[in-house]
Amino acid sequence: MAEAIRFFELNTGAKIPSVGLGTWQAEPGVVAAAVTAAVKVGYRHIDCAQAYGNEKEIGFALKKLYADGVVKREDLWITSKLWCSNHAPEDVRKAIDSTLQDLQLDYLDLYLIHWPVKMKKGSAGFKPENLDQPDIPSTWKALEAAYDSGKARAIGVSNFSTKKLGDLLAVARIPPAVNQVECHPQWQQPKLHEFCKSKGVHLSGYSPLGSPGTSSIKGDVLKNPILLSVAEKLGKTPAQVAIRWGLQSGHSVLPKSTKEDRIKENFDVLDWSIPEDLLANFAEERLVKGTGFVNKEHGAYKTIEELWDGEL
Ligand code: A2P
Repeated sequence: MAEAIRFFELNTGAKIPSVGLGTWQAEPGVVAAAVTAAVKVGYRHIDCAQAYGNEKEIGFALKKLYADGVVKREDLWITSKLWCSNHAPEDVRKAIDSTLQDLQLDYLDLYLIHWPVKMKKGSAGFKPENLDQPDIPSTWKALEAAYDSGKARAIGVSNFSTKKLGDLLAVARIPPAVNQVECHPQWQQPKLHEFCKSKGVHLSGYSPLGSPGTSSIKGDVLKNPILLSVAEKLGKTPAQVAIRWGLQSGHSVLPKSTKEDRIKENFDVLDWSIPEDLLANFAEERLVKGTGFVNKEHGAYKTIEELWDGEL
């Protein structure tokens, strides 16, 4: 019998539902229908962000779902994220208040620093002149205040490398509960995954399908030959195998779709599993290890780990 893997427990004790609906690039106009369809199918986790420009519509959809008796607020997990232009501590409170207002919520289940990147206050778009020097410890203090006030029941980060997460853990009063990063069978991040695990930080995977609809993102995860062969063997779709791979690796996954049939398909990953022998096919391994350059007495590197700084 496959383990359902419905939740992962965070360092706050809260249980984050394992499959969340991604809402990046879910345009206002279609996002409400997507959220409604997802909740009706059984999703209890919606991944939002102020920067996605659709939180108002999501708020209306959620309100209607409670009013229609489909779901109660307390049974949902809603994540949102602080945009780069609101990193100044005095702006964090305003940003979270405005997100809460848009989503029509009293609290978020999780609030993340969207990127370890600061942009000038009031700036919009990705112009280089908008970039500023981040001060993550001071932004984090403001998130800790949001946690203390109960507006965010868990706080975390997104797009943080192992190093940046380590730097934050060294100064945080409240350790981040989550690091949300790109994660899928073609980009597994074993080093970050191990570090997160050792520190009790949950890794949540965005772009679990490799964001096939995004023209700026190269590499077609859903056409990965290993994924296709495992999907064929199991009689599942490549998207389902990619999502299930994430769950079995210990990550929550956030597939985005605005199409009802795909929303259903992407949630149908709880009552079957990828057998261990097929799961092993996904193991990423550096093929060119450079063993010949490693020597206990000569040269710079005594071990393979030293040669690659542990990134094996
Ligand atoms: P659409 O919203 O039109 O369904 P990711 O979650 O990795 O960012 O990927 C999202 C992209 O993958 C969107 O372009 C979405 O398109 C598409 N997508 C979502 N679910 C599936 C699926 N089951 N099969 C193929 N493509 C999918």
